[in-house]
Amino acid sequence: MSVIRAVVKGYGHYLPERVVENAEFAETLDTSDEWIRSRTGIERRHFAAEGQKTSDLAIEAAKMALAKAGMQGNDLDAIVLATATPDQTFPSTATRVQHAIGLTHGFAFDIQAVCAGFIFALSNANAMITSGQAKTVMVIGAETFSRILDWEDRTTCVLFGDGAGAVILQAEPGEGTGSDRGILATDLNSDGRFNDLLYVDGGVSSTGTAGVVKMQGQEVFKHAVAKLAACGETALDKAGLHADDIDWIVPHQANLRIIKRTAQKVGVSMDRVVVTVQDHGNTSAASIPMALSVAAERGQIKQGDLLLLEAIGGGLTWGAAVLRW
Ligand code: ACO
Repeated sequence: MSVIRAVVKGYGHYLPERVVENAEFAETLDTSDEWIRSRTGIERRHFAAEGQKTSDLAIEAAKMALAKAGMQGNDLDAIVLATATPDQTFPSTATRVQHAIGLTHGFAFDIQAVCAGFIFALSNANAMITSGQAKTVMVIGAETFSRILDWEDRTTCVLFGDGAGAVILQAEPGEGTGSDRGILATDLNSDGRFNDLLYVDGGVSSTGTAGVVKMQGQEVFKHAVAKLAACGETALDKAGLHADDIDWIVPHQANLRIIKRTAQKVGVSMDRVVVTVQDHGNTSAASIPMALSVAAERGQIKQGDLLLLEAIGGGLTWGAAVLRW
């Protein structure tokens, strides 16, 4: 059976110049490189410069993705951008990227699913492509979490970083089997009963401020391993594939211990898991597209490889995608 598949044509990422090593936090907080490294796997992260906005990071990632795909801005039909740290309450950060890359037709909008945002954006782009609404869509994850951190809270501020990643998806015919290139299945979930486990204590209609991140780390940890493994398995089932078929898991990069336990539960060994958390920290919606781009640049991910992407974030919101690169 002939079907339309959303196939990756280009990828890109951008990290702000400033690198902050764990040791820097120990200068002002009761923490240590050893604690952060052993509990999270994080060694360093990048922080945006003063005045550098989420759109600035996204635009650089978008330009790299266009160059990799051999495309111009106007070759796109749409941009879907996942972020929890937009430049402004409105207009969307996506429309800023649209203008900067010279896309003068089509449409651009933001999606908000925090750390799971890229999976939600990818799934949305896939739906638009497979339904014929758009042919070529750029999906971006971009964040400046450094803007919503409480620098006196050692339990959260050491965990996050800034960055942006992008992929370009384009409609291509497929056979309708698991051997096709492109997005083969997605699985999206949320449960608002868990709002209080991970949130920002501000907002437009509540405090009129941006607020800072608050998290019950241990509780999030427990949910993360169970929910990531479950949605990964559901997405594989939907695609008619199994853990043995996976070449690479590309997980949300929040914590190395979560990444390891989830891979173990899914039944994939760590030599088939892309890990960037040591250098990026948790960059929320940007983490998976940056990991994809870095892994493709390293030569780890190759055309035809089967990837399982999975992420969880505030909401709680979680999801997975099965993608043949
Ligand atoms: N430095 C030193 N000590 C610290 C630090 C720190 N930076 N942070 C916490 N501690 C202390 C705590 O105060 C506590 O001390 P106490 O025993 O005297 O009370 C002790 O270390 C242990 O704290 P725990 O919270 O039990 O540590 P845990 O092993 O659970 O690790 C962590 C904490 C890293 C936050 C972990 O729970 C975690 O990763 N949770 C998941 C978080 C996550 O992945 N969030 C992102 C998913 S969603 C998204 O990406 C937005």
